[in-house]
Amino acid sequence: MARTLILGGTTEASRLARALAERGRDAVFSYAGRTNNPVAQPLPTRVGGFGGMEGLVAYLRQEAITHVVDATHPFAAQMSRNAVAACAAAGVDLCALERPAWRAMDGDTWQSVASIEQAVAALPDRPKRVFLAIGKQNLSEFAAVPQHHYLLRLVDPPLGDLPLPDTSVVIARGPFDTAQDTALLQSHKIDLIIAKNAGGRGAEAKILAARALKLPVIMINRPQVPERLVFGEVDQVLGWLGH
Ligand SMILES: NC(=O)c1ccc[n+]([C@@H]2O[C@H](COP(=O)([O-])OP(=O)(O)OC[C@H]3O[C@@H](n4cnc5c(N)ncnc54)[C@H](OP(=O)(O)O)[C@@H]3O)[C@@H](O)[C@H]2O)c1
Repeated sequence: MARTLILGGTTEASRLARALAERGRDAVFSYAGRTNNPVAQPLPTRVGGFGGMEGLVAYLRQEAITHVVDATHPFAAQMSRNAVAACAAAGVDLCALERPAWRAMDGDTWQSVASIEQAVAALPDRPKRVFLAIGKQNLSEFAAVPQHHYLLRLVDPPLGDLPLPDTSVVIARGPFDTAQDTALLQSHKIDLIIAKNAGGRGAEAKILAARALKLPVIMINRPQVPERLVFGEVDQVLGWLGH
């Protein structure tokens, strides 16, 4: 009997979970546990790390998983690497459900960088008002350039002090709307945006808003993950699963 593990976190992972639940398929949904109240799923759900590659191998065996769909955020590269290695070791079929990266269009002012460190280095010396749209991890790396004002958008209110001296914090969960993101950038008088190239629709509003307002974007490219079977659409994953 087929039993699928969805490694989640993305809007696409939730869409796949809905499709499998509607078809009455045997599947488990896994969250990293990065947010306080993750979106409820129509499948049995587990939360938290597996304990590295070995932990994932043990989980796959214990739960008799036959298929893994890696529908994690494109920057959750450690999880994706572990999934490739663990599925190979356990003899479990693996595919990724991955949304295409965003692409610059004519008129965009994007500076593409390979890492958070390069994004920090790409900031100008003069103080700017920056929409630092990278979530809550990696904020401390921007403490090296404290002269800027940082607008942060976080899913949960921060616990304790932020590592940056001059911030505005907006608590919100995607998907976001372009008109609202345009208004957000204007009301905070933002000069430039730093974003991870997550791709997909849910987080694209800020990129479309930056385009409309002709604001520069420092775009952090996706980390490398080992080669695996990749689909862009939920329907393709359903076909691969034989549904
Ligand atoms: N994960 C998300 O839902 C999410 C959402 C938005 C953005 N991001 C982006 O991804 C970057 C890295 O995030 P991350 O630390 O979560 O990923 P990561 O660095 O790839 O994962 C670190 C560890 O978290 C656990 N983990 C990650 N995803 C999991 C899942 N779906 N189910 C169970 N365990 C999971 C695994 O722990 P074990 O090794 O113990 O198994 C993994 O080794 C963030 O900075 C952010 O840009 C991630």
